[in-house]
Amino acid sequence: MVTGGAGFIGSSLCERLLSEGHHVVALDNMFRGRSENLEHCLTHDSFHLCSGDASSPEDLQGCFDLLGGIDLVHHLAAINGTRWFHKAARRVIDVNINATLATIDKALEWGARYVLASSPEAFGDAKTMPLKEDNESVFPNSAQHQRFAYGASKYLDEVAVYHAVREGLDGRIVRPFNGYGVRLMGDDYGQVVAMMFHAVRSQQVIHVHGDGQQTRSLTHVDDLVEGFYLAGHLDRGIKGQEMRGAAFNLGSQEEVSMLTLAQAVNEVVGSQAVDIVFSEGYHGDSSRRLPDCSNALEYLGWWPSILLSDGLRTVWSRLKGQP
Ligand SMILES: NC(=O)c1ccc[n+]([C@@H]2O[C@H](COP(=O)([O-])OP(=O)(O)OC[C@H]3O[C@@H](n4cnc5c(N)ncnc54)[C@H](O)[C@@H]3O)[C@@H](O)[C@H]2O)c1
Repeated sequence: MVTGGAGFIGSSLCERLLSEGHHVVALDNMFRGRSENLEHCLTHDSFHLCSGDASSPEDLQGCFDLLGGIDLVHHLAAINGTRWFHKAARRVIDVNINATLATIDKALEWGARYVLASSPEAFGDAKTMPLKEDNESVFPNSAQHQRFAYGASKYLDEVAVYHAVREGLDGRIVRPFNGYGVRLMGDDYGQVVAMMFHAVRSQQVIHVHGDGQQTRSLTHVDDLVEGFYLAGHLDRGIKGQEMRGAAFNLGSQEEVSMLTLAQAVNEVVGSQAVDIVFSEGYHGDSSRRLPDCSNALEYLGWWPSILLSDGLRTVWSRLKGQP
């Protein structure tokens, strides 16, 4: 089962699981999911799309009954997109906490393995870089802004997984670092790479927040899906390590500033390049985010393989052909 399976990463993960011969059910309430994302899956005999809520034990059980059993839960349902963190903090917290608790309970009941899609935001405002798997989380005072509705509830999701591991859950945690790919949402509620390409496609200016010197590690969705897949697939780490309770940062090692990213997007789109303007960012945005992926390498044999320049070119070649 892939919760959030009609979303950006979830849909590609469903494709990957099907290609490996699994029977897959995607559970999504279509808050941000799109059935177009699943066009390659929907024709597959081993695939089911269930419209429902990952916080609902009945909807989760419906997925179980549909497949006649579930032995692996990839829990990706969440409300992603920075603008939502500020605008819909309650809903962000609700989905992160309640869907995670409900899916953990079901995975325990079913004896299924569990992979939580957490986030580097679970480290809050941590300043030590690169972020190691066991880095401390640091959160500012809650009165300052609402941004950590997302990060702090992802942090609690991780606590819930560790607690359930003590109760017998085969739980693992992955933290994707700024994914990008063709299906990433580029609207006002979307994420950075897609928003920049969206600006180019509509021939508007690219907005870069603040002075544009804040950095991210932009990771191609194919690399992320490989990490999710391995985290769910392997019984033990590649050197025989215990996987229960292991956490994996999944992110590119190319640290890029948002201004450089905007310039790289303009370079890739050539004659369609647009102006870059500086605008006010969101409160609480971190200035740097760089992962230490040692655990992913040691346990999963995972390392990011797609260079940003190549990834941006691939995304643009697909996007420019779309209506
Ligand atoms: N994309 C990234 O760079 C990134 C980075 C860090 C963490 N993550 C995490 O990875 C996961 C997938 O992210 P994504 O980028 O694919 O986001 P996404 O928004 O594209 O996908 C999330 C999906 O969850 C669905 N959903 C929301 N609430 C639901 C509910 N109550 N019940 C069922 N479905 C629900 C949405 O409709 C959407 O299809 C999320 O948990 C996200 O927090 C993503």
